[in-house]
Amino acid sequence: VQPQAPSLYLDACATTPPAGPVLEAMASAQASAWANPSSLHGFGLEAAELLERSRLSVAGQLDCDGEEVVFTSGGSESIHLALLGAAAALAPGRLLISAVEHPATLAAARQLEGRGWRVETLPVDRQARLDLEALDRALRTPAQLVSVIWGHNEVGTIQPLATIGERCRAAGALLHVDAVQVVGHQPLSFRQLPVDLLSFTAHKLQGPRGIGGLLVRSGLELGALIGGGGQERGRRGGTEPVVLAAGMARALELGGARLDGQGGDDPLRPLRDALLGDLLALPGIRLTGADPTVKGLRLPHHISLLVSDGSGRPVDGRELVRHLWQEGIAISSGSACSSSRGGSTVLQALGYSPAEAASSIRISLGPWIEPADLQRVPLALERARQRCGPEQRLSGP
Ligand SMILES: Cc1ncc(COP(=O)(O)O)c(C=O)c1O
Repeated sequence: VQPQAPSLYLDACATTPPAGPVLEAMASAQASAWANPSSLHGFGLEAAELLERSRLSVAGQLDCDGEEVVFTSGGSESIHLALLGAAAALAPGRLLISAVEHPATLAAARQLEGRGWRVETLPVDRQARLDLEALDRALRTPAQLVSVIWGHNEVGTIQPLATIGERCRAAGALLHVDAVQVVGHQPLSFRQLPVDLLSFTAHKLQGPRGIGGLLVRSGLELGALIGGGGQERGRRGGTEPVVLAAGMARALELGGARLDGQGGDDPLRPLRDALLGDLLALPGIRLTGADPTVKGLRLPHHISLLVSDGSGRPVDGRELVRHLWQEGIAISSGSACSSSRGGSTVLQALGYSPAEAASSIRISLGPWIEPADLQRVPLALERARQRCGPEQRLSGP
């Protein structure tokens, strides 16, 4: 359905439109480096050279060695490779995860349970911050693996990764971090982070869909999920997607340049803060997740809200999303992964009722946004909320 008003995409945490220079890099790679990088002739060598240049560029942006970069198909695969691949080199033991992990981590954890691993879920507070005392208690008994979501897709909370990593190191547990929502929004040095495995994906930062990466600490043994021709140093079989790798490298470079231009801060932060201030001034709107006013606690481009009507009753977030699209504004209810009816399980884990959880919306910004674009959002939200009549309101199953 096409809206009447000009469209405004505010759903960056679901995915992002590819940046112009990314499309250019991919078009050029498609023309010149289309061959199989394992081939020994000149065509293959050209593809292999571009693949390695892209790998080194990715490594430069994330401050790690090129050999530590494994190209995958995206965040979900990276997470599976991290957890199942690291576990393959270990005797079954304990995996600790937080109570607010992405479904991809939960799926990988379930697979490990089937292989004799014990998965333990650590509690978080109302803002989705990991309970560090619970982590300490859990680490008193040997745990082989820990996995945490660094920046939360649904409520924007950033975990204190340095502290978590140091405690895991001291206890001898390997740490995987799901950095899918963080990469591109804050400078990152894998060399300096106390983590062993780090997952990311290109499509959240204006790169192509279908490629992501896993950073694997040098020397860490990792079993492959996909066997084959020994590509990616035997860690992921399959002819490498050279064109997508070139696109991802360009997207990371653009993200790095944006952060460098602001001394490491995301230029989206002031836009987000201004919009959030305007939205919270409306009655019946509450913020979920971490405090945006303290730097480092919340993703700088992320807003998550609970919305209720004039009489204080939660409205249906999914209905609100549809009405906002009639105003030309694209947002999501909860997270793109939890847009099904019934409300976010993450919000329920944070202590919200099912009706409150079902009234959640997420607004996430990207570099394509101009400050003036955002001025119409509060009024549009107000109009959309008024259109959420009682017949649509949480009466279904
Ligand atoms: C925090 C987080 N982890 C993992 C993923 C999965 O990434 P991908 O869509 O590239 O598989 C997402 C994407 O929605 C995410 O937000």
